[in-house]
Amino acid sequence: MKFFIDTANLAQIKEANELGVLDGVTTNPTLMAKEGIKGRDAVMQHYIDICNIVSGDVSAEVIATDFKGIVAEGEELAKLHKQIVVKVPMIKDGVKAIHYFTSKGIRTNCTLVFSPGQALLAAKAGATYVSPFIGRLDDVSTDGLQLIAEIREIYDNYNFKTQILAASIRHAMHIINCAKLGADVATCPLSAITDLLKHPLTDIGLEKFLADAKKFA
Ligand code: E4P
Repeated sequence: MKFFIDTANLAQIKEANELGVLDGVTTNPTLMAKEGIKGRDAVMQHYIDICNIVSGDVSAEVIATDFKGIVAEGEELAKLHKQIVVKVPMIKDGVKAIHYFTSKGIRTNCTLVFSPGQALLAAKAGATYVSPFIGRLDDVSTDGLQLIAEIREIYDNYNFKTQILAASIRHAMHIINCAKLGADVATCPLSAITDLLKHPLTDIGLEKFLADAKKFA
C-alpha cells in the first residue's frame, strides 16, 4: 500500500518524507489556497517545489471544467515535472479528457468520485488513479469504506489497472480499513499517518525497558 500525503504544506510534506514512508502527494485547489499561494506562476512553482521534496507522484488539479480547457491545463501541468499526475474531476468532459491524456501517455487522477459507477468510468477511460472520497461520504451518513470495497471488487473482476487512491481520509482507522480492503494508495493528513505510531502499550513497554536499562548501565 502506498502512502500519499494530502496537503500542499511544504513543511508537512518534508516531515512525512523524512519518516521514510511517503510515496507521493495529492493537492487540490482548497489545499493550495490554504497555503496562501497567489497567482499562476506561484502555483506552478509550488508544484515544482513539492516534486523536489518527494520522489513519487504529485497530483496537481485542473481548474477548467470543459474538455479543451482541461486538456490545455493538464498538458501544461504535466510538462512541469515528470512526477506530476493531472488531477481531473469526475465530470463528462473530465472523463473525455482522461481518455485523451491516457492516449498521450499523461498520467491522471480522477477526483471527486463518490460511486462505483463513477469509478468504473474512470477505469474505462484509463485513469492512473481513482480517488473515492471516503470521509466526505461518512460525513453524509454513507459508508465510505463500502465504496472502497465495491471498487476493489469491480476492478478485480476485470483486472483494471487503475489504482484505488482512498482520499478524504480523516483518521488512522480509515487507513487501516483501506489497507484491509485492498486500496492501492491512501492519501492522508500527516496526523493520520503519525497516529498509526501510537499505542499506549508501546509507551509503557519502552518506559519499563529504559528504567531496567539503567540497572545495568
Ligand atoms: C485528495 O485527493 C482529496 O482532494 C482530498 O483527500 C479531499 O479531502 P477532504 O474531504 O478532507 O477535503
